[in-house]
Amino acid sequence: MPRPIQTDMLRRLFRRLCLLGALLVCLPLLSGLPPLGADEPVVRDEAVLARQATMRQAKATLGVLMDMIAQRRRFDRPTARAAQADLVDVLDTLPERFSEPHMDRHSRARSLIWQDWGQFSALAQAAARAARDLRPNTLPALRRSLPDLMATCLACHRRYRRER
Ligand code: HEC
Repeated sequence: MPRPIQTDMLRRLFRRLCLLGALLVCLPLLSGLPPLGADEPVVRDEAVLARQATMRQAKATLGVLMDMIAQRRRFDRPTARAAQADLVDVLDTLPERFSEPHMDRHSRARSLIWQDWGQFSALAQAAARAARDLRPNTLPALRRSLPDLMATCLACHRRYRRER
């Protein structure tokens, strides 16, 4: 009676083929993934998280003013003044936020900051000064004064923030 043996073999062959098929489907997916947990862009260092949050707050507040000068948002003086005050406060904290050379593999801060501390803190002070010099009382004045502040953000990023 050779028949049951043959079906048994066929069944095993079929199972192997299924396994191989599944493997072939999964392989490209698996090889495209980074090793588990190795490359998730998660910052763990508290001080790094704090300084990045400070930066995001600066960006959000600056965004309010940029929307006003681009007329994506209606200009209103109290909101513009409040945004200016917020930017001054946030930018005043920069030297303190960066004073210790905290690092994290997902931070974009360059270690040059701490070799070059004098210049870095001068740029931070220039940004805070440009925020103080903003003229939030009228739309034309805001439009004239905002680019100077934006230039101070860019100047520091160009030198002290890594490319992605
Ligand atoms: C004195 C230097 C300096 C100035 C001035 C500065 N930044 Fe930054 N900024 C940095 C550095 C350094 C980083 C990278 C921090 C890190 O990843 O640890 C950064 C990161 C950021 C980030 C990314 C934050 C995140 O979630 O990773 C944003 C957004 C940002 N800055 C916005 C601004 C804006 C808007 C201004 C101007 C109002 C500004 N910055 C002024 C140095 C500066």
